[in-house]
Amino acid sequence: MDAPGEWTLRKPGLPGAGGKRTKHKKNRPFMALLITSTGKNLDSWVAALKEAGPEVDILTLEQDVPHERILMALAWNHPPGIFRTLPALKCISSMGAGVDHLLSDPDIPEDVAVVRIVDPMLARDMFEFVLALILGHNRRLPLFAQQQSRGLWKKKRYRRIRDTRVGVMGTGAIGHHVCMGLSALGFSVSGWGRSASREGQQPPYRRHAGAGGLASFLRDTDILVCLLPLTPETRGILNRELLSQLPRGGVLINLGRGPHVVEQDLIALLDEGHLQAASLDVFDPEPLPEGHPFWKHPGVQLTPHIASLTDPASVAPQVIENYRRLRRGEPLLHRVDRRHGY
Ligand code: OXD
Repeated sequence: MDAPGEWTLRKPGLPGAGGKRTKHKKNRPFMALLITSTGKNLDSWVAALKEAGPEVDILTLEQDVPHERILMALAWNHPPGIFRTLPALKCISSMGAGVDHLLSDPDIPEDVAVVRIVDPMLARDMFEFVLALILGHNRRLPLFAQQQSRGLWKKKRYRRIRDTRVGVMGTGAIGHHVCMGLSALGFSVSGWGRSASREGQQPPYRRHAGAGGLASFLRDTDILVCLLPLTPETRGILNRELLSQLPRGGVLINLGRGPHVVEQDLIALLDEGHLQAASLDVFDPEPLPEGHPFWKHPGVQLTPHIASLTDPASVAPQVIENYRRLRRGEPLLHRVDRRHGY
Protein backbone atom coordinates (compact mmCIF):
# COMPACT_ATOMS: atom_id res chain seq x y z
CA MET A 1 0.00 0.00 0.00
CA ASP A 2 1.29 3.51 -0.75
CA ALA A 3 2.42 5.41 2.28
CA PRO A 4 0.28 8.46 3.12
CA GLY A 5 1.44 11.49 1.20
CA GLU A 6 2.86 9.56 -1.75
CA TRP A 7 -0.15 9.71 -4.03
CA THR A 8 0.54 10.20 -7.69
CA LEU A 9 -1.78 9.89 -10.65
CA ARG A 10 -1.13 6.50 -12.17
CA LYS A 11 -1.64 5.43 -15.74
CA PRO A 12 -5.32 4.56 -16.26
CA GLY A 13 -5.69 0.98 -15.20
CA LEU A 14 -8.71 -1.17 -14.79
CA PRO A 15 -9.80 -2.39 -11.43
CA GLY A 16 -10.56 -5.69 -9.84
CA ALA A 17 -9.20 -7.56 -6.86
CA GLY A 18 -5.53 -8.39 -7.22
CA GLY A 19 -5.24 -6.20 -10.33
CA LYS A 20 -7.64 -8.33 -12.44
CA ARG A 21 -9.03 -6.52 -15.46
CA THR A 22 -12.79 -6.02 -15.77
CA LYS A 23 -14.63 -5.74 -19.09
CA HIS A 24 -16.89 -2.72 -19.51
CA LYS A 25 -19.17 -1.39 -22.19
CA LYS A 26 -17.69 0.68 -24.99
CA ASN A 27 -18.28 4.45 -24.59
CA ARG A 28 -19.50 4.00 -21.04
CA PRO A 29 -16.76 5.24 -18.74
CA PHE A 30 -16.19 2.79 -15.94
CA MET A 31 -16.52 4.43 -12.52
CA ALA A 32 -15.80 3.01 -9.09
CA LEU A 33 -16.15 3.44 -5.36
CA LEU A 34 -12.84 3.57 -3.49
CA ILE A 35 -12.47 2.76 0.21
CA THR A 36 -9.76 5.15 1.34
CA SER A 37 -9.38 3.76 4.82
CA THR A 38 -6.06 2.71 6.29
CA GLY A 39 -5.30 0.62 9.36
CA LYS A 40 -8.57 -1.41 9.22
CA ASN A 41 -9.30 -4.86 7.86
CA LEU A 42 -11.71 -4.04 5.05
CA ASP A 43 -12.89 -7.55 4.12
CA SER A 44 -16.27 -7.18 5.82
CA TRP A 45 -16.76 -3.73 4.22
CA VAL A 46 -15.94 -5.00 0.73
CA ALA A 47 -18.24 -8.02 1.17
CA ALA A 48 -21.14 -5.92 2.50
CA LEU A 49 -20.79 -3.30 -0.27
CA LYS A 50 -20.64 -5.97 -2.98
CA GLU A 51 -23.73 -7.61 -1.57
CA ALA A 52 -25.63 -4.30 -1.45
CA GLY A 53 -24.45 -3.18 -4.90
CA PRO A 54 -23.37 -6.10 -7.08
CA GLU A 55 -23.06 -3.76 -10.09
CA VAL A 56 -20.69 -1.33 -8.31
CA ASP A 57 -16.91 -1.73 -8.57
CA ILE A 58 -15.47 -1.55 -5.08
CA LEU A 59 -11.75 -0.83 -4.75
CA THR A 60 -9.38 -0.51 -1.84
CA LEU A 61 -6.01 1.20 -1.59
CA GLU A 62 -4.33 -2.18 -1.80
CA GLN A 63 -5.31 -2.38 -5.45
CA ASP A 64 -3.96 -0.55 -8.45
CA VAL A 65 -6.26 2.46 -8.20
CA PRO A 66 -7.34 4.11 -11.47
CA HIS A 67 -7.49 7.56 -9.88
CA GLU A 68 -9.36 9.30 -12.68
CA ARG A 69 -12.26 6.82 -12.46
CA ILE A 70 -13.11 7.18 -8.79
CA LEU A 71 -16.56 8.72 -8.43
CA MET A 72 -17.06 8.21 -4.71
CA ALA A 73 -14.83 7.52 -1.71
CA LEU A 74 -15.71 5.84 1.57
CA ALA A 75 -13.32 7.19 4.17
CA TRP A 76 -11.88 6.74 7.64
CA ASN A 77 -8.24 7.60 8.44
CA HIS A 78 -7.55 8.43 4.81
CA PRO A 79 -4.00 9.15 3.64
CA PRO A 80 -3.44 12.92 3.61
CA GLY A 81 -3.71 14.44 0.18
CA ILE A 82 -5.47 11.50 -1.47
CA PHE A 83 -8.66 13.36 -2.43
CA ARG A 84 -6.65 15.86 -4.44
CA THR A 85 -5.51 12.99 -6.68
CA LEU A 86 -9.03 11.86 -7.66
CA PRO A 87 -10.17 14.22 -10.44
CA ALA A 88 -13.61 12.60 -10.99
CA LEU A 89 -14.49 12.47 -7.28
CA LYS A 90 -18.01 13.77 -6.58
CA CYS A 91 -18.72 12.52 -3.07
CA ILE A 92 -16.97 11.32 0.07
CA SER A 93 -18.92 9.25 2.57
CA SER A 94 -17.65 8.94 6.11
CA MET A 95 -17.54 5.34 7.35
CA GLY A 96 -19.11 6.55 10.59
CA ALA A 97 -21.47 9.14 12.01
CA GLY A 98 -18.72 11.71 12.51
CA VAL A 99 -17.27 13.78 9.66
CA ASP A 100 -14.72 15.92 11.54
CA HIS A 101 -11.93 13.69 10.13
CA LEU A 102 -13.04 14.79 6.65
CA LEU A 103 -13.91 18.43 7.26
CA SER A 104 -10.52 19.09 8.84
CA ASP A 105 -8.86 18.04 5.56
CA PRO A 106 -8.07 21.18 3.52
CA ASP A 107 -7.66 19.07 0.37
CA ILE A 108 -11.34 18.32 -0.21
CA PRO A 109 -12.49 20.49 -3.13
CA GLU A 110 -15.53 22.70 -2.46
CA ASP A 111 -17.66 20.92 -5.06
CA VAL A 112 -17.18 17.45 -3.57
CA ALA A 113 -20.18 16.50 -1.42
CA VAL A 114 -19.56 15.04 2.04
CA VAL A 115 -22.13 12.60 3.44
CA ARG A 116 -22.28 10.80 6.75
CA ILE A 117 -23.78 7.59 8.03
CA VAL A 118 -27.14 7.74 9.78
CA ASP A 119 -27.94 4.28 11.02
CA PRO A 120 -30.49 3.06 13.58
CA MET A 121 -28.04 0.40 14.77
CA LEU A 122 -25.41 3.07 15.58
CA ALA A 123 -28.03 4.97 17.57
CA ARG A 124 -29.21 1.86 19.44
CA ASP A 125 -25.65 0.81 20.27
CA MET A 126 -24.93 4.31 21.56
CA PHE A 127 -28.04 4.23 23.73
CA GLU A 128 -27.00 0.87 25.24
CA PHE A 129 -23.54 2.19 26.04
CA VAL A 130 -24.86 5.41 27.60
CA LEU A 131 -27.26 3.34 29.70
CA ALA A 132 -24.48 0.99 30.85
CA LEU A 133 -22.30 3.91 31.93
CA ILE A 134 -25.10 5.78 33.70
CA LEU A 135 -26.20 2.69 35.63
CA GLY A 136 -22.56 2.00 36.48
CA HIS A 137 -22.20 5.47 37.98
CA ASN A 138 -25.54 5.29 39.78
CA ARG A 139 -24.43 2.01 41.34
CA ARG A 140 -20.86 3.30 41.92
CA LEU A 141 -19.31 0.41 39.97
CA PRO A 142 -16.08 2.30 39.05
CA LEU A 143 -15.58 3.06 42.76
CA PHE A 144 -16.19 -0.55 43.80
CA ALA A 145 -13.73 -1.77 41.12
CA GLN A 146 -11.10 0.49 42.71
CA GLN A 147 -12.01 -0.71 46.20
CA GLN A 148 -11.68 -4.32 45.04
CA SER A 149 -8.17 -3.65 43.72
CA ARG A 150 -7.29 -2.38 47.22
CA GLY A 151 -9.09 -5.23 49.06
CA LEU A 152 -11.50 -2.71 50.59
CA TRP A 153 -15.05 -3.66 51.72
CA LYS A 154 -16.99 -0.40 51.96
CA LYS A 155 -20.65 0.24 51.10
CA LYS A 156 -21.85 3.34 49.33
CA ARG A 157 -25.47 4.37 48.70
CA TYR A 158 -26.75 4.27 45.13
CA ARG A 159 -28.98 6.53 43.07
CA ARG A 160 -32.17 5.25 41.44
CA ILE A 161 -33.23 5.84 37.85
CA ARG A 162 -36.20 7.96 38.90
CA ASP A 163 -33.87 10.29 40.85
CA THR A 164 -31.34 10.70 38.04
CA ARG A 165 -31.31 13.82 35.90
CA VAL A 166 -29.46 13.19 32.64
CA GLY A 167 -28.49 16.02 30.29
CA VAL A 168 -27.55 15.11 26.72
CA MET A 169 -25.56 17.63 24.66
CA GLY A 170 -26.25 17.03 20.97
CA THR A 171 -29.78 16.16 19.94
CA GLY A 172 -29.22 15.04 16.35
CA ALA A 173 -30.25 11.57 15.18
CA ILE A 174 -28.20 9.70 17.81
CA GLY A 175 -28.71 12.14 20.70
CA HIS A 176 -32.47 12.23 20.14
CA HIS A 177 -32.62 8.42 20.16
CA VAL A 178 -30.62 8.32 23.42
CA CYS A 179 -32.91 10.93 25.03
CA MET A 180 -36.02 9.00 23.97
CA GLY A 181 -34.65 5.69 25.30
CA LEU A 182 -33.63 7.16 28.65
CA SER A 183 -36.98 8.94 29.03
CA ALA A 184 -38.82 5.68 28.38
CA LEU A 185 -36.89 4.04 31.24
CA GLY A 186 -37.92 6.74 33.71
CA PHE A 187 -34.83 8.99 33.81
CA SER A 188 -35.45 12.71 33.96
CA VAL A 189 -33.94 13.81 30.65
CA SER A 190 -32.97 17.14 29.09
CA GLY A 191 -31.42 17.66 25.71
CA TRP A 192 -29.33 20.63 24.61
CA GLY A 193 -28.72 21.53 20.97
CA ARG A 194 -27.29 24.41 18.98
CA SER A 195 -30.67 25.45 17.68
CA ALA A 196 -34.28 25.12 18.77
CA SER A 197 -36.50 22.09 18.52
CA ARG A 198 -37.24 19.82 15.56
CA GLU A 199 -40.28 21.19 13.79
CA GLY A 200 -43.60 19.80 14.85
CA GLN A 201 -42.23 17.38 17.45
CA GLN A 202 -42.95 17.39 21.16
CA PRO A 203 -40.45 14.91 22.56
CA PRO A 204 -40.95 13.45 26.04
CA TYR A 205 -37.80 15.21 27.28
CA ARG A 206 -37.03 18.88 27.98
CA ARG A 207 -35.23 20.73 25.24
CA HIS A 208 -32.81 23.60 25.66
CA ALA A 209 -31.11 25.45 22.87
CA GLY A 210 -28.20 27.77 22.21
CA ALA A 211 -26.00 29.70 24.60
CA GLY A 212 -29.08 31.10 26.35
CA GLY A 213 -30.38 27.64 27.24
CA LEU A 214 -27.14 26.27 28.65
CA ALA A 215 -27.26 27.52 32.26
CA SER A 216 -30.70 26.07 33.07
CA PHE A 217 -29.81 22.83 31.26
CA LEU A 218 -26.63 22.36 33.32
CA ARG A 219 -28.20 23.39 36.62
CA ASP A 220 -30.61 20.44 36.40
CA THR A 221 -28.13 17.79 35.23
CA ASP A 222 -26.51 15.12 37.45
CA ILE A 223 -24.99 13.19 34.55
CA LEU A 224 -23.87 15.11 31.48
CA VAL A 225 -23.56 13.09 28.26
CA CYS A 226 -21.71 14.72 25.36
CA LEU A 227 -22.71 13.47 21.90
CA LEU A 228 -21.87 16.67 20.04
CA PRO A 229 -20.18 16.74 16.65
CA LEU A 230 -16.73 18.33 16.67
CA THR A 231 -16.91 21.77 15.04
CA PRO A 232 -15.01 25.02 15.63
CA GLU A 233 -17.87 26.05 18.00
CA THR A 234 -17.82 22.85 20.07
CA ARG A 235 -14.03 22.38 20.34
CA GLY A 236 -13.11 22.90 24.01
CA ILE A 237 -16.76 23.28 25.05
CA LEU A 238 -16.32 20.94 28.05
CA ASN A 239 -14.24 23.45 29.97
CA ARG A 240 -14.18 24.77 33.55
CA GLU A 241 -16.78 27.43 32.87
CA LEU A 242 -19.31 24.92 31.57
CA LEU A 243 -18.55 21.93 33.81
CA SER A 244 -18.55 23.98 37.00
CA GLN A 245 -22.21 24.86 36.32
CA LEU A 246 -23.14 21.22 36.95
CA PRO A 247 -24.29 20.56 40.52
CA ARG A 248 -21.50 19.38 42.85
CA GLY A 249 -20.93 15.62 42.48
CA GLY A 250 -21.84 15.65 38.77
CA VAL A 251 -20.58 13.10 36.28
CA LEU A 252 -19.33 13.70 32.74
CA ILE A 253 -19.70 11.07 30.01
CA ASN A 254 -17.88 12.13 26.82
CA LEU A 255 -18.70 10.05 23.75
CA GLY A 256 -18.31 12.93 21.26
CA ARG A 257 -14.69 13.69 20.43
CA GLY A 258 -11.55 14.14 22.53
CA PRO A 259 -11.08 17.83 21.65
CA HIS A 260 -14.44 18.70 23.22
CA VAL A 261 -12.71 18.40 26.60
CA VAL A 262 -10.24 20.88 28.08
CA GLU A 263 -8.26 18.19 29.84
CA GLN A 264 -6.61 20.27 32.57
CA ASP A 265 -9.98 21.81 33.52
CA LEU A 266 -11.58 18.37 33.80
CA ILE A 267 -8.74 16.99 35.93
CA ALA A 268 -8.87 20.06 38.21
CA LEU A 269 -12.65 19.73 38.73
CA LEU A 270 -12.26 16.02 39.54
CA ASP A 271 -9.41 16.77 41.97
CA GLU A 272 -11.43 19.51 43.66
CA GLY A 273 -14.35 17.07 44.07
CA HIS A 274 -16.74 19.24 42.06
CA LEU A 275 -17.12 16.35 39.62
CA GLN A 276 -17.48 12.85 41.01
CA ALA A 277 -16.28 11.01 37.92
CA ALA A 278 -15.77 11.12 34.17
CA SER A 279 -16.29 8.33 31.64
CA LEU A 280 -14.25 9.07 28.53
CA ASP A 281 -14.44 7.07 25.30
CA VAL A 282 -12.75 9.55 22.95
CA PHE A 283 -9.38 11.27 23.20
CA ASP A 284 -7.04 13.64 21.46
CA PRO A 285 -4.98 11.92 20.16
CA GLU A 286 -6.12 8.31 19.95
CA PRO A 287 -4.87 5.96 21.21
CA LEU A 288 -4.41 7.89 24.45
CA PRO A 289 -0.62 8.26 24.88
CA GLU A 290 1.15 6.18 27.48
CA GLY A 291 1.69 8.13 30.71
CA HIS A 292 -1.26 10.47 30.11
CA PRO A 293 -2.78 11.47 33.51
CA PHE A 294 -6.21 10.06 32.50
CA TRP A 295 -4.80 6.50 32.57
CA LYS A 296 -4.30 6.47 36.33
CA HIS A 297 -6.73 9.11 37.56
CA PRO A 298 -9.10 7.55 40.12
CA GLY A 299 -12.00 9.65 38.88
CA VAL A 300 -11.62 8.65 35.22
CA GLN A 301 -13.09 5.57 33.59
CA LEU A 302 -11.57 4.96 30.13
CA THR A 303 -12.81 3.00 27.15
CA PRO A 304 -11.03 2.77 23.75
CA HIS A 305 -13.52 4.60 21.43
CA ILE A 306 -15.94 1.71 21.55
CA ALA A 307 -19.31 3.36 22.29
CA SER A 308 -20.89 2.55 18.93
CA LEU A 309 -19.12 0.83 16.06
CA THR A 310 -20.32 1.02 12.48
CA ASP A 311 -21.63 -2.34 11.26
CA PRO A 312 -20.71 -2.66 7.56
CA ALA A 313 -23.73 -4.87 6.74
CA SER A 314 -26.10 -2.37 8.32
CA VAL A 315 -24.74 0.72 6.52
CA ALA A 316 -23.62 -0.66 3.14
CA PRO A 317 -27.11 -0.19 1.55
CA GLN A 318 -27.07 3.58 2.24
CA VAL A 319 -23.53 3.93 0.87
CA ILE A 320 -24.56 2.11 -2.30
CA GLU A 321 -27.78 4.10 -2.51
CA ASN A 322 -25.71 7.30 -2.51
CA TYR A 323 -23.42 5.88 -5.21
CA ARG A 324 -26.46 5.11 -7.37
CA ARG A 325 -27.90 8.58 -6.71
CA LEU A 326 -24.62 10.11 -7.83
CA ARG A 327 -24.79 8.15 -11.06
CA ARG A 328 -28.38 9.29 -11.61
CA GLY A 329 -27.62 12.89 -10.60
CA GLU A 330 -30.12 12.79 -7.71
CA PRO A 331 -29.82 14.50 -4.29
CA LEU A 332 -27.72 12.54 -1.82
CA LEU A 333 -28.80 11.07 1.52
CA HIS A 334 -27.39 12.57 4.75
CA ARG A 335 -25.42 15.30 3.07
CA VAL A 336 -23.33 17.34 5.49
CA ASP A 337 -23.58 21.11 5.63
CA ARG A 338 -19.87 21.85 5.44
CA ARG A 339 -20.37 25.32 7.01
CA HIS A 340 -22.00 23.86 10.14
CA GLY A 341 -19.74 20.84 10.28
CA TYR A 342 -22.44 18.15 10.55
C1 OXD B 1 -18.10 7.83 14.50
C2 OXD B 1 -17.27 7.31 15.60
O1 OXD B 1 -18.14 9.03 14.30
O2 OXD B 1 -16.97 6.12 15.59
O3 OXD B 1 -18.73 7.05 13.81
O4 OXD B 1 -16.91 8.06 16.51
